[in-house]
Amino acid sequence: MDVQRGQWSSRMGFIFAAAGSAVGLGNIWKFPYITGENGGGVFVLIYLVCIIAVGIPIMVAELLLGQGSKQSPVGAFEHFHKKGSSWGLVGWLGVASGFVILSYYSVVAGWAMHYVKLSLQGFTNLDTETIGNTFSGLYGSATQNMFWHTVFMSVTIMVVIGGVKKGIEKTCNILMPLLFLLLLFLVGRAVFLPNDGFMKAVDFIFMPHFEKLTPHGILEALGHAFFTLSLGMGAMLTYGSYLKSRKEVLKSSIAVSLLDTVIALLACLMIFPVIFAFGYEAEAGPGLVFKTIPIVFSQIAGGQILSVFFFLLLTFAALSSAISLLEVVTATFIDKLDWRRNKAALISGIVIFVFGIPSALSGSGKIFGAWADIFGKNFFDSMDYLASNWMLPIGGLLTAIYVGWVMPKEKLEYFFGAEFYPAWIFKVFYLLIRFFSPVLVLIVLLYKIDFI
Ligand code: PHE
Repeated sequence: MDVQRGQWSSRMGFIFAAAGSAVGLGNIWKFPYITGENGGGVFVLIYLVCIIAVGIPIMVAELLLGQGSKQSPVGAFEHFHKKGSSWGLVGWLGVASGFVILSYYSVVAGWAMHYVKLSLQGFTNLDTETIGNTFSGLYGSATQNMFWHTVFMSVTIMVVIGGVKKGIEKTCNILMPLLFLLLLFLVGRAVFLPNDGFMKAVDFIFMPHFEKLTPHGILEALGHAFFTLSLGMGAMLTYGSYLKSRKEVLKSSIAVSLLDTVIALLACLMIFPVIFAFGYEAEAGPGLVFKTIPIVFSQIAGGQILSVFFFLLLTFAALSSAISLLEVVTATFIDKLDWRRNKAALISGIVIFVFGIPSALSGSGKIFGAWADIFGKNFFDSMDYLASNWMLPIGGLLTAIYVGWVMPKEKLEYFFGAEFYPAWIFKVFYLLIRFFSPVLVLIVLLYKIDFI
């Protein structure tokens, strides 16, 4: 085994890094806008069910696979089965998902960076229409999107080259708590918005209206549970491989999932009050956070500073997720091809950057306009749809099957750390990972391809 392999310096360091991977654009940019598009409360409810019944068990599965094998995804999937078995392909599927997700994730992170710049210039004292147009202008600009995509990918590559302790852990330890505090403050501020905005938002987010439930919404909720917890592609697995003790697996999974869910809900409580207070559309799509939050800042004393701060923290939240995406690819190339870290991170980063160019140009519609005519979604949306609604759930399904059915039960019990808890805890987990989680994912996928 590789004696040089990095390790987290402490239990909290690991939790922060794993939470850093989980908490990102998925929570603050994506969750609110897909909640808006899928009818509010009922979507949130299905999402919470998915987190508890599917997300947590699969997070445990990934962490124990990583911790137990001390390898990146491809090696981990071969570790508990025969070497060279086709289970290694699940790891490669994860690497492919990492490529796809990071390629468009970087574009959205670029928007956040652009808003840091706009906030510095003081764009906050504008009316709602201008703020909407500001986003459309950015979305449609090929140059801006390309510029920020380049900046963001370069920074991500540099941090990943820095390695586990120095690069990833340090960045996350400082920024995660700050982001949390700023969100709390903004939710607090949203309580005082006019037109009963906050109460309407609470109603929209927490009252399920079952008539708004659609099959598409269910697939989206399940897919997002994977996306937001960084599951189904080996990111948590890879982070788990730097974990010293198997004692941490279950506790960390619960802690990270809880933190991630709380932040996603806080993001909704920060954004929806603005929508209801100012009569906005809840279905504004990917521009939602960028069109709403600046309005709050324009009304607070010191709003400009806070705005700079908010988009900076959003950028860092995106960065701590992006590095986990690139880390999966990098770690695989290090472990499987014997590349040095610098080379692995640089080459994979550049390939991902190039693959992200069509997404960066999607809004401008100039070069890849024909794509939307054929597939009904532009390139950017297609990549997001492909990765979160298909690749991650399929990766998660295969992970559950591997851990529940292929891995020997004694090994599973050992790496789960069953002896540290009352006996029923492992039994519940075993039931979930063997039957409940895979069956649920399978039903949703089959339903989506019109099989049932
Ligand atoms: N969980 C991250 C987010 O919510 C995105 C991500 C997905 C990161 C998959 C790593 C792996 O923004």
